[in-house]
Amino acid sequence: MKIGVVTSGGDCPGMNAFILELAKLCSKTDCDLIGYIGGYKGVEENNFIDLNFNSISGMSLGKRGGSILFTGRYENLKDDKKMIYLKQNLNKSGVDWLVVLGGDGSLRAAKKLSDLGIKVVGVPATIDNDVKGTDYTLGFDTAINKTLEVINDIEDTATAMPGKIYIVETLGGDSGNIAKAAFDQGAADIALIPEMPISDEELVNMVKEKFSNGNKYIIITICEGLKRTMHYSELLQQALNRKVHVTIIGHKQRGGSPTAYDRYMAKQFAKQAFDLIKKNDYGKMVCYTLGKIGNCNL
Ligand code: F6P
Repeated sequence: MKIGVVTSGGDCPGMNAFILELAKLCSKTDCDLIGYIGGYKGVEENNFIDLNFNSISGMSLGKRGGSILFTGRYENLKDDKKMIYLKQNLNKSGVDWLVVLGGDGSLRAAKKLSDLGIKVVGVPATIDNDVKGTDYTLGFDTAINKTLEVINDIEDTATAMPGKIYIVETLGGDSGNIAKAAFDQGAADIALIPEMPISDEELVNMVKEKFSNGNKYIIITICEGLKRTMHYSELLQQALNRKVHVTIIGHKQRGGSPTAYDRYMAKQFAKQAFDLIKKNDYGKMVCYTLGKIGNCNL
């Protein structure tokens, strides 16, 4: 049996740990594992490497962020003809199964390939944690820990020099999960996210109220997708006559070693993906719902 792996879209911590575990599982059976380079583009160009467990096991993959296969945002995800071309390439290369790690767009393309007759397993992998059908996507925990690290450091100086407002912009595209997580953990006083829009007036009042309730400083996380970071900075500076400092975390949030939780999830996701393959259960996505790893339709 031949299995191809694709890491597609934005990379995330845990992708390499997943690949390592899948290679380990494959090495115990009669199965060849190959990895396409650069996401779906690798499938289009037949560009792949062997992921033999013996050759990759010494590469410290478990702890490495990014993806050893590189990733890419394939511009032809919505082009049905290209999808047929990818299917033909996979058939020609004798690939029996395709394992696709990625976010929403990448998994939608995986579903197209599945509808065309390719045996596909999807694996939700994006720091944004915004894939329908699963409560968890690989990389989210690492990304929210990165936010926490930044806020923790800001809090030291905020405590030493009270009275100011700190705005921390997070990644997440149009999904506010990362910014909201910092609020849910009690690290941010306010989270500004696309899913819960508020008016300028509401925000100003909210910040005023927090200061009058005794807050010594205010930390606000904001999802990049709102594209309002500098607007809110100026607004609050003028309305409250207080210093406002902006920190944009950017892609630091997407790199680095996966947390213990992401390494654990990578391993469990790989086991589940391999299980689906062994059971010949295709067109599925590995998912995590109600505290359990399982699978659902792509
Ligand atoms: O992969 C998801 C993500 O990291 C989003 O949080 C972010 O908006 C986007 O990718 C950035 O993508 P790129 O690195 O392609 O600009």
